[in-house]
Amino acid sequence: MLTPNKQYQELKDTYLFNTIYRKTDEYRQSHPDKKIYLMGVGDVSRPLCEAVIQALHQAVEDQATMQNFQGYMPERGAAELREAISAYYRRYHVAISPNEIFISSGACDDLGDILELFAKDNTVLVLEPAYPEYVDTNILAGRKVVHLNSGEENGFLPAPPADITADIIYICSPNNPTGAAFDREKLQAWVDYANAQGAVILFDAAYEVFISDPSVPHSIYEIEGADTCAIEICSLSKMAGFTGTRLGYTVVPEALIRMEMNLNTMWARNRETRTNGVSYILQKGAAAVFTPEGYAQTRQDIQVYQKNARMLMDAFDQAGIWYTGGKNSPYIWIKCPDGMGGWEFFDYLLQKIQVVGIPGEGFGACGKGYFRFSAFGDPADTEAAAGLLCKLLGKAEMAEGASQK
Ligand code: MLT
Repeated sequence: MLTPNKQYQELKDTYLFNTIYRKTDEYRQSHPDKKIYLMGVGDVSRPLCEAVIQALHQAVEDQATMQNFQGYMPERGAAELREAISAYYRRYHVAISPNEIFISSGACDDLGDILELFAKDNTVLVLEPAYPEYVDTNILAGRKVVHLNSGEENGFLPAPPADITADIIYICSPNNPTGAAFDREKLQAWVDYANAQGAVILFDAAYEVFISDPSVPHSIYEIEGADTCAIEICSLSKMAGFTGTRLGYTVVPEALIRMEMNLNTMWARNRETRTNGVSYILQKGAAAVFTPEGYAQTRQDIQVYQKNARMLMDAFDQAGIWYTGGKNSPYIWIKCPDGMGGWEFFDYLLQKIQVVGIPGEGFGACGKGYFRFSAFGDPADTEAAAGLLCKLLGKAEMAEGASQK
């Protein structure tokens, strides 16, 4: 008889974000007259920009003509798109060749698939609080997961532990969920730690477009030595509103070698077997993100989300609530008032002001007592929610102040 993967029994019953959707739906059904402010799951609210839409239309037309019709795409992705991403890295003075870039159907997919490069007996170090996929995918594979907690004492930016060794290390900066971001010096310490023990860092760069602080690197490859220890996984979801469109990219440096096996060559071989590439139409749309028009248009959307984040930060400042994030990130991570747990605070906000966020404990045990808000919502909704949060959590007069911004 077939033996199923028993590791599924080790997972929580439902994925965090589905629990949030379910609880919100239940409330909506029992309170159909109430307006709900969605600031939980980090899904974008703005449509694709004009440059991308035009490129998508053109690509559809291409598929209708003998001359331009495109069949299977290369496993690594279209050369045009990989060259555009390589040029994007040059903005940050990082030299990544198109051969080191692999187009994917989104960071979420590659964060799971990339684990096929590693043996099952590797130990995984997850800096927590963390995006739940890092832990779930490794539980499913049966790997040992070591949780490295962080907290207010280190600004949710833990340093490499002297007493722990690991083979695979997850780092997300700017971080989901805390919004905290490693500066160059702190990230250098992690790169040195990984190189010293022959580990590989899986660097999740999904939120790099939100960085405003020059001391925060956009790519781990800005750090010396990263090309011999890091794989960078990025996505157009937050950069260009592709959450529903699906496209990302993964960088595997040619210098990344373990036990004489070249991980770039291995990943290319993996892609040959596991995928027939991302759709031609989507890759054309994605390439438009990296044109001057696409870049300017997507930055306008990012600025809208950054303004949302500022409205929320102002509300928490006025209400006297501790938080991190928001500055280099679309996420704001607050300390729940009155010692409440995250799920208790979730219910409290939903019942009192119909604002949905995400309980910190959903991102790991050390997130207990904290709560994440997303700035990806509609600006008018965010403004209204900021006013409601301020009024509920702090001084009543802030409600007016936030709504005037
Ligand atoms: C989140 O809310 O954390 C994001 O939506 C995660 C993701 O991009 O999948």
